[in-house]
Amino acid sequence: MTPCGNNFICVLGVLLCVCFRVFSSVTEQQRTVSLNGKWGLSSSDGSLSLTAQVPGCVHSALQQQGYIQDPYFRFNDVSYQWIALDNWTYTTVFAVSAQLRARQKVLLVFDGVDTVASVWLNGITVGKTDNMFRRYDFSVRDLLRDGDNVLNVSLLSPVLYASEQRKAHSAYRVPPECPPDVQKGECHVNFIRKEQSSFSWDWGPSFPTMGLWKDVRLEAFDILQLVQISSVPLYNYSRSQWTVQVELLVDAVETTTGQITLSIPELDSDQTFQTEFLSGKTKNIFILNINTVLDTVHGVQVLMKCILQVYFRTVELVQEPVVGSPGLSFYFRINGKPVFLKGSNWIPAHSFQDQLLCLSFLNSAVDANMNALRVWGGGVYEQDLFYSICDELGIMVWQDFMFACATYPTEDRFIQTVREEVVQQVRRLKSHPSIIIWSGNNENEAALATDWFNIPAPQKSTYIKDYVTLYVNNIRKIVQEEDQSRPFLVSSPTNGAESEQEGWVAANPYDPHYGDTHFYSYILDCWDWRTFPRTRFASEYGFQSWPSFSTLQPVSVNEDWSYNSNFSSHRQHHEAGNQEMLLQAAFHFHLPNSTEPLKRFTDTLYITQVMQAQCVKTQTEFYQRSRSEIIEGKGRTMGALYWQLNDIWQAPSWSSVEFGGKWKMLHYFAQSFFSAVLPVGFEDNNTLLIYAVSDLNQDLKLRVTVYSWADLDPVCTLKSDLILVPGGSAVPIFKEPVATLLVGCGRCTRLTCLLTFHLEDPSSVQQGPTNHHFLCSPKEAQGLQRPNITVSFSILDYTVTLHSASVAPFVWLDVGNIPGRFSSNGFLMVSRNMTVSFNAWRPTSVAELSKYLTITSLRDVY
Ligand SMILES: *[C@@H]1O[C@H](CO)[C@@H](O)[C@H](O)[C@H]1NC(C)=O
Ligand SMILES: *[C@@H]1O[C@H](CO)[C@@H](O)[C@H](O)[C@H]1NC(C)=O
Ligand SMILES: *[C@@H]1O[C@H](CO)[C@@H](O)[C@H](O)[C@H]1NC(C)=O
Ligand SMILES: *[C@@H]1O[C@H](CO)[C@@H](O)[C@H](O)[C@H]1NC(C)=O
Ligand SMILES: *[C@@H]1O[C@H](CO)[C@@H](O)[C@H](O)[C@H]1NC(C)=O
Ligand SMILES: *[C@@H]1O[C@H](CO)[C@@H](O)[C@H](O)[C@H]1NC(C)=O
Ligand SMILES: *[C@@H]1O[C@H](CO)[C@@H](O)[C@H](O)[C@H]1NC(C)=O
Ligand SMILES: *[C@@H]1O[C@H](CO)[C@@H](O)[C@H](O)[C@H]1NC(C)=O
Repeated sequence: MTPCGNNFICVLGVLLCVCFRVFSSVTEQQRTVSLNGKWGLSSSDGSLSLTAQVPGCVHSALQQQGYIQDPYFRFNDVSYQWIALDNWTYTTVFAVSAQLRARQKVLLVFDGVDTVASVWLNGITVGKTDNMFRRYDFSVRDLLRDGDNVLNVSLLSPVLYASEQRKAHSAYRVPPECPPDVQKGECHVNFIRKEQSSFSWDWGPSFPTMGLWKDVRLEAFDILQLVQISSVPLYNYSRSQWTVQVELLVDAVETTTGQITLSIPELDSDQTFQTEFLSGKTKNIFILNINTVLDTVHGVQVLMKCILQVYFRTVELVQEPVVGSPGLSFYFRINGKPVFLKGSNWIPAHSFQDQLLCLSFLNSAVDANMNALRVWGGGVYEQDLFYSICDELGIMVWQDFMFACATYPTEDRFIQTVREEVVQQVRRLKSHPSIIIWSGNNENEAALATDWFNIPAPQKSTYIKDYVTLYVNNIRKIVQEEDQSRPFLVSSPTNGAESEQEGWVAANPYDPHYGDTHFYSYILDCWDWRTFPRTRFASEYGFQSWPSFSTLQPVSVNEDWSYNSNFSSHRQHHEAGNQEMLLQAAFHFHLPNSTEPLKRFTDTLYITQVMQAQCVKTQTEFYQRSRSEIIEGKGRTMGALYWQLNDIWQAPSWSSVEFGGKWKMLHYFAQSFFSAVLPVGFEDNNTLLIYAVSDLNQDLKLRVTVYSWADLDPVCTLKSDLILVPGGSAVPIFKEPVATLLVGCGRCTRLTCLLTFHLEDPSSVQQGPTNHHFLCSPKEAQGLQRPNITVSFSILDYTVTLHSASVAPFVWLDVGNIPGRFSSNGFLMVSRNMTVSFNAWRPTSVAELSKYLTITSLRDVY
């Protein structure tokens, strides 16, 4: 795989070599002793005492040792509430060598403590922690002794801590106090620097984790150690010149002189700096001018040599006047080219981060033609590997800071811990070219502007002041000092530059003329594109669906398998969500009504996925075709990031990928609606319009085929002229009143016919996917029959050939829990035969596939 996947992100990826020398006679490298592994864990009164894996958390330890069942099973989120109401202590005993203790400095390092703890070494408190997103280190050299050393970490209940912090903040409310009852969560999560969704969310359970969630170790050294190294390429537009800014975070026992050589052989760039590392932990910045060669100095001790990958790319967030429209543009220009961001939003992929084994979701994002993900602000700053994979795959990351849907306190103690969190996270992540923007929070500007929390008008200024203190005067300021290579946005949604003009909280942060928007409506008909705001950038929008039966089955029992069961209500954390899905589905589809209860349940799961896929398709295609137009002063949409890519557990949600990685119908649809070349059809005043949307620059023509619902033979075909579709644009390629089209086609009415269409190059080779347009709701379609689809398998290549007796909408192939995906799924079948392949993610066989394969199409559920 070439670095950067596609060329949107990087111009070039090269290796940077950093040689690190100090003038000293000490030769030995630093020593690291890992303290990961088996620790002891006990509850506050000692009634539970077990072994626990570090890194890990209390819930995982209890489950692994058989004290509790799978926390995701049925109603266990409620049954296991007691875990996070207790205090827990992790203990380990270790020996250290005399050589290690002879070092000038020994640090006890925690890469992540979740969350509020005091740390004891050999009976002495060495420090406290209060922020899951920080790395902590404690100087412990003089506390270490011969033989056994006893280390314990006493964790305070995060629920209790949050509530105590709330009580201490008596001057005024910091809402929301508690999540809605339907979420069955805990209160005051905004008072603790911890994954905000761990106290429950509208798609996730309440599991307020506690533990040592990242590595623990001792680091011993003399003179100094390199704590962290990062690099960002900076481009000077007026000089047309690149520099690479390299930052070394160094911990020096005492002030020491040294020498740093930066070199990029591939670019003939090499520079040496004499420097002084001040005593203590300091940041040291060096700038390498590209194409400058300097002599290296010889004869000193080389202490360290690091090789870093540097990727050169520029990113600008363009907010400038738009011809024919009030307001400002809002789009990303990467390496000088405007780029339409296609993708979705990322949430934590597991309640227990230590149980998260793989990040295959990122491949699924790329397979669905996404080029961007937003790491949402109610979760965690993801692990390094996440961003490295994004770098490699060419996924651009919109990175939120971890604040969401709330107001936050601004006491000094809170601000100080946030400041350290922000500094550390920016330094850790800024070398990743995949990150194209930092964003201060999720929806907190909108929450104040549109008064989510019923704040009395006279008090509003207090909250706005706190908002500006936290996100502007602290977070924004730090980010701008730490990273000049990418833009910072205070919130999402926001009016961006316009919000700043209005004092950082705009009157209407959802204004489509500025910045980004989030938009949700479940009761308006999603097939009507007029429902959607013609925004500059859609960073959140979506519809719920249920995951498939094979995903629910392991965490449920027979009595749960109906849409009205307690289980189905329990897993739905969005008020009235289950009813809303059926309401939306019923606009266009017959609801499942099988007399067989299990079939009726699985058919209902299916119809929610059909509804979701079709709704998000309509909305995304509206944004895709709005990229080049201004209509009634609105448009030039340059991003579509739907809510949400992944799931945290097995429950209904807005995701397109289920917990465990199985693709919902929406994810297959995304593969089409995000493809580089796409025809989009819609109606305006009973006129059918089709736009050609393309990221390439090419001559295209359109071919439309009209079918009758009752018959597999086409009724007629139509063609457009060849037109030039410039790269990155959407242009109308076909326009005809529906009545004229139907008359021209002979025996068709809105109720009897439907159309498919695709784009072709000048030599009539199809470009992009085949799309379709229904002239009526499928529930009104005349002539739609049960297609009685049969299958045959090819043993050679895992292909499945379907044979249909009639037109079949939303054909869904399901192989249960066999991991993998089909080449196409949820499709409209308008041919007698169709072949799809199964891309298995573990070895399987035709026998296994055929045993589990089920096929459902729209007419099979009623
Ligand atoms: C947890 O520790 C806090 C602070 O020491 C204490 O107030 C609380 O009672 C403890 N909880 C339990 C269940 O022991
Ligand atoms: C943790 O260490 C301190 C000091 O040695 C001790 O007082 C305390 O009992 C320990 N806690 C547990 C649960 O082992
Ligand atoms: C770019 O280079 C010019 C000319 O040397 C200098 O004045 C300017 O400050 C530089 N810009 C940045 C952002 O460093
Ligand atoms: C469902 O929940 C209700 C209310 O909590 C309870 O009365 C009922 O027994 C539950 N039904 C089943 C089948 O568990
Ligand atoms: C549809 O009708 C509206 C209002 O009459 C008009 O503004 C709009 O241009 C029409 N659209 C098309 C595609 O003709
Ligand atoms: C599918 O099978 C049913 C039941 O045998 C039959 O009534 C129906 O006509 C078949 N559908 C088609 C399209 O042949
Ligand atoms: C469809 O498949 C059947 C069975 O494999 C075959 O007999 C038939 O010729 C195929 N029809 C077309 C149009 O390819
Ligand atoms: C299910 O709904 C369809 C469409 O409304 C109807 O024709 C059919 O009779 C219903 N079946 C049952 C078993 O109620």
